[in-house]
Amino acid sequence: MSNYHIKHLEEYYKVYRKSVREPEVFWEEIAEEHFVWRKRWDKVLSWDFSKPEVKWYEGAKLNITENCIDRHLRTNGNKTAILFEPNNPDEEAQHITYNRLYERVNQFANVLKSQGIQKGDRVCIYLPMIPELAISVLACARIGAIHSVVFAGFSSTALATRINDSDCKMVITSDGSYRGKKTIDLKGIVDEALYECPGVSNVLVVKRINSDIDMKEGRDQWVQPLLDAASKECEPEIMNAEDPLFILYTSGSTGQPKGMVHTTAGYMVYTAYTFKNIFNYRSNDVYWCTADIGWITGHSYIVYGPLANGATTVLFEGVPSYPDYGRFWEVVEKHKVNQFYTAPTAIRALAKEKLEFVNKYDLTSLKVLGSVGEPINEEAWHWYNDNVGKKNSPIVDTWWQTETGGIMVAPLPYVTPTIPTYATLPFPGIQPALMDENGEELQGNQVEGRLCVKFPWPSMARTIWGNHQRYKETYFSAYEQKYFTGDGALRDAVGYYRITGRVDDVIIVSGHNLGTAPIEDAINEHPAVSESAIVGFPHDIKGNALYGYVILKETGESRVHENVSKEINQIITEHIGPIAKLDKIQFVSGLPKTRSGKIMRRILRKIASNDTSNLGDTSTLLNPEVVDEIIENVIK
Ligand code: PRX
Repeated sequence: MSNYHIKHLEEYYKVYRKSVREPEVFWEEIAEEHFVWRKRWDKVLSWDFSKPEVKWYEGAKLNITENCIDRHLRTNGNKTAILFEPNNPDEEAQHITYNRLYERVNQFANVLKSQGIQKGDRVCIYLPMIPELAISVLACARIGAIHSVVFAGFSSTALATRINDSDCKMVITSDGSYRGKKTIDLKGIVDEALYECPGVSNVLVVKRINSDIDMKEGRDQWVQPLLDAASKECEPEIMNAEDPLFILYTSGSTGQPKGMVHTTAGYMVYTAYTFKNIFNYRSNDVYWCTADIGWITGHSYIVYGPLANGATTVLFEGVPSYPDYGRFWEVVEKHKVNQFYTAPTAIRALAKEKLEFVNKYDLTSLKVLGSVGEPINEEAWHWYNDNVGKKNSPIVDTWWQTETGGIMVAPLPYVTPTIPTYATLPFPGIQPALMDENGEELQGNQVEGRLCVKFPWPSMARTIWGNHQRYKETYFSAYEQKYFTGDGALRDAVGYYRITGRVDDVIIVSGHNLGTAPIEDAINEHPAVSESAIVGFPHDIKGNALYGYVILKETGESRVHENVSKEINQIITEHIGPIAKLDKIQFVSGLPKTRSGKIMRRILRKIASNDTSNLGDTSTLLNPEVVDEIIENVIK
């Protein structure tokens, strides 16, 4: 079992050194010993970042669901694979064993086939956090269809854009979803989206809230009767290592979202290996990641990584505040959760509430606490460490991205000493580089720069669906022969990494990655708006919130401004979703611009953050006078 489970720091360094010195030998051994293959690879790795082209385990054949399900049946068939905890605590939890998961995935896969879905077809999944979400993901993988899960908080316009971008033939959705006290009409959102999606001929609907919805004849079908009639056996489609497994959209510097394409073998190996080590998973543990499967964290660390290790993974439908702020801890106690993985924004929201919500539950089962999605601030780190972990559970601050597929920099619990706000050390196989303004790699420790990765790792995205050129420009053009992450980072005296935040036009709001461009595009749709600029500003719970500077075509009364503000947020909700709403909107007569016409966001960011002490030289701007006006009317 060489290298698969790292147990002490010396061993980490040894394994890490090997992974850098002999990457192919290293990744070959991991792949050989811990997975089932239908055919062995011919070549472990070939790569060229200038194209960019990366292939792992070329020539190998496999099906990821055989690794995530079938191979566990003989020894662990009756073990719980998915532990479903519903939104309403009075509704009973469901323990879906590996045996049952096998049957349910196969039935779903057979339904997909009977509806004409074939290997390589794209299927859009727009579902709440219910078992059918994980099951339909795995069913796609079973037959080689490419799943594109769209987070069920996205609006109909955002959904339509994503369906069309990858030509999905089918949408899988539900009659609605529960969210705390509320219900959401998901099917209505899908109906709305599909007016714009001529390519979708088939909609499968899961019944969840028993609402009375419209079913369009010839297009929409309830999935349950089809599942009931389907066989529980479905031969897995045998895939090539580099066949696409899924597409997952992330926002970027233009209005069009980027469909990151992840392939099969490398993704499987890397997510499984990182899961085992970063969560220190042992065979009878109960692991819970609170993310939604609509994000990469859910793909890699609710579904694929845990199941590839034969783990028990909790799938939680609810929210941390319902029926009260003790819900997370109630679930931890009830299911004796051993590893708990959440986002700093959730921790900050819970830290604002009474400690009693935490203290009344028995949290002694916890062994590892995880954090992901944005830098965790010191205060939140201590609250998590003191009150949830009782100073007994190491916090793994995991840095990674949709594009990286798996965790890249993180401590190994009980192995790497942790420091608040530090993601600490690169995972074996990951070779980070910090770059200075001149494009040179910073050598040694105690340096700060832009974070790149200079060697391929198995779970990296291979392209942007339908736009390889954009993939190259976005990630491989800033620095030669390096993958550029878009983040800044520092490396301290002992080589630990601390992520300092985005250095591009992406803002992380409540752990959600939001590009400014798509939001500005939405605002500019308002008939009264002539131009806008969005920046982030610090927010107690969300980490960052959005501040919009808007120029109107005609200036009106303040009452009118209020209406326009509401309408702007309405348009954003329709185009993207409520997560992208602006907290503050300031109407301005102009935006500070360079002489070449570029908006100086740095200045706008400082003003929005109430930090106007050092704005730098504004005299070179095209319109320096506008800066004073903006400062004067800033919204506090
Ligand atoms: O800026 C980093 C931040 O989230 C970005 C990636 O967002 P997304 O693709 O949505 O994936 C989120 C879940 C993996 C990164 O570029 N980020 C993520 N985790 C951390 C983080 N920043 C600091 N510390 C982290 N642990």
